[in-house]
Amino acid sequence: MGDWRLDGLAYGGDYAPEQWPEEVWAEDVALMREAGVNLVSVGIFSWALLEPAPGEYTFGWLDRVLDLLHDAGIRVDLGTPTAAPPPWFAKRHPGARLVDRAGHTLGQGGRQSFCPSSPQYAAAAAGIAEQLGRRYGDHPALVLWHVHNEFAGVNAHCYCDTCAEAFRVWLRERHGDLGTLNAAWGTAFWGQRYGEWDEIEPPRLAPTAVNPAQQLDYLRFCSDTHLANYRRERDVLRSHSAAVPITTNFMIANCKWVDYWKWAGEVDIVANDHYLASERHDRHVELAMCADLTRSLAGGAPWLLMEHSTSAVNWQPRNIAKRPGELARNSLAHVARGADGVMFFQWRASRFGAEKFHSAMLPQAGTGTRIWREVTELGTRLAGLGGLRGTRVAADVAVVWDWEAWWALELEWRPSVDVTFRERVEAYYARLWEAHLTADFVHPEADLGRYPLVVVPSLYLTTAAAAKNLDAYVSGGGTLVVSYFSGVVDANDTVPDGPYPGSLREVLGVTVEEFLPLRAGERVLLSDGSAADVWAEDVQLAGASPVLSYVDGPAPGGPAVTRHERGAGVAWYVSTRLADADLGRLLERVYADAGLGARPAVPSAVELVQRPPYLFAINHGAEAAEVRGVAVPAGEVVVLSSPSPSSSEGAGP
Ligand code: GAL
Repeated sequence: MGDWRLDGLAYGGDYAPEQWPEEVWAEDVALMREAGVNLVSVGIFSWALLEPAPGEYTFGWLDRVLDLLHDAGIRVDLGTPTAAPPPWFAKRHPGARLVDRAGHTLGQGGRQSFCPSSPQYAAAAAGIAEQLGRRYGDHPALVLWHVHNEFAGVNAHCYCDTCAEAFRVWLRERHGDLGTLNAAWGTAFWGQRYGEWDEIEPPRLAPTAVNPAQQLDYLRFCSDTHLANYRRERDVLRSHSAAVPITTNFMIANCKWVDYWKWAGEVDIVANDHYLASERHDRHVELAMCADLTRSLAGGAPWLLMEHSTSAVNWQPRNIAKRPGELARNSLAHVARGADGVMFFQWRASRFGAEKFHSAMLPQAGTGTRIWREVTELGTRLAGLGGLRGTRVAADVAVVWDWEAWWALELEWRPSVDVTFRERVEAYYARLWEAHLTADFVHPEADLGRYPLVVVPSLYLTTAAAAKNLDAYVSGGGTLVVSYFSGVVDANDTVPDGPYPGSLREVLGVTVEEFLPLRAGERVLLSDGSAADVWAEDVQLAGASPVLSYVDGPAPGGPAVTRHERGAGVAWYVSTRLADADLGRLLERVYADAGLGARPAVPSAVELVQRPPYLFAINHGAEAAEVRGVAVPAGEVVVLSSPSPSSSEGAGP
């Protein structure tokens, strides 16, 4: 499954007709057609309007909306409204409320304020999904089911007694018996040994750091609980609507708490919501990274951009409007990186409620606006790019990404608060982006054989299987580059016997005697003049050769960057946080090892992505550029079609 029955690329957004009188709906549909909209997401937050009292349903309005859209040829992505349980639900089931780590029961009036382990919630959510599945499962407008909204978005972790019970059940499955759990959690430390299952609690707020292995298991449990909630609804829908694909919208950039590697195989189409970190000057690089990660979760298959914004959002400290042209650049960058559709939150800007200052396809100021013009232009452009549908992106390299390693790295009481997962991933990803190298993201235990280069920006938690995988990759001829503070602990946050970096010692050919975090603002100099900060290590050679050494700082004269020839391949180790430009220069040497030395002579501000038979050139710079003889004006996107490298190219569809 994975077909949403559209001829070309999907274009549209979240549509909430329930916020307007019915007279407005006809105008909505007419304007959607004008803008080229062919898919809208409906009903996502409508539970209280569809089931105003337990077991009482008012579907008439939704019937009319779906029929109206169908008559206009606009397809529907129908939401289950379970991210916003009705007020009656919370009143009826006080035990289903969300409890934070400090034990506060959180209030209602927003959304997703429910306990993810609650059996009452599970029953009510399955109930409304059942009603929707039965009523609309074969509606001719329906092409996609949209389960819930951004699972774990704001209720990732609940610490109530129901969750405590469910956690114990989950732990029994993972560890089997208490002896195994005590060993896995290292409960000999601080005398935490458990003698009965019901002594175990969620890692609630405590006066000191709570056992890190317990915390890690709790994060796994919570991710699995949300996944079980997704599966339950999906299976109900499937039983009534076997032919319609089912998905839920991931939020890869903003949700740390869901292990999407586990989720990806459970959806028929991977869908993602992406909102720019609008104050960042390199926000387009972050966008590219999230799009690459989304495609990688989809196993390289086309995916759907379920939400992004036409301009400003409303929930950042300062909500920066997009500049003219940015909307198209953002949208087409997602398409370049594998999206088969571009959707927005939202169709029409709300007049009331918490999101009234959020941009929309149809702004408060109506159709005489720049946003509306750009929206309709994009609709026309996407309609002309229908040939892209189903094509796949050609990636050059792989970057290892692991949610569990992210969680573990950022628990408290680590050697330095300045070492974080995303920071290192983004630093390496940005250098690849500047070098016009397209990255797939991979799970550390995935098959790596087809990539000439694998980057491991930060893999604090490295399982034995992952280490073996990386070693086999190098021995088989691959080029690996590993950043500091990787390979430090196993899946239970336990340091393996012997020196750091534990399971990666052999492949890297180094040992690390001591971590040497730097003071805030402290910089160290390396032998080629490179600058570094945040982190240094006392690295000992154990087979690797030094490439750069520390000139000053806490390990003067010691190796800072090493290179290890192992089997048919090479493993590089970077033990410090190089300044961006210096990391870029170092990576040129790594690319040469990987046979990726010849980089295109195109300015680094021009994003180049191959989605064969097309090549996207997105000019983020202030100067016009030329790609394969074709002009790419500043701020513009040019799609070249290049059926084969030898034939002549021209501006594509
Ligand atoms: C998303 C959410 C939408 C809307 C949007 C605003 O995370 O799914 O419902 O709230 O953010 O940017």
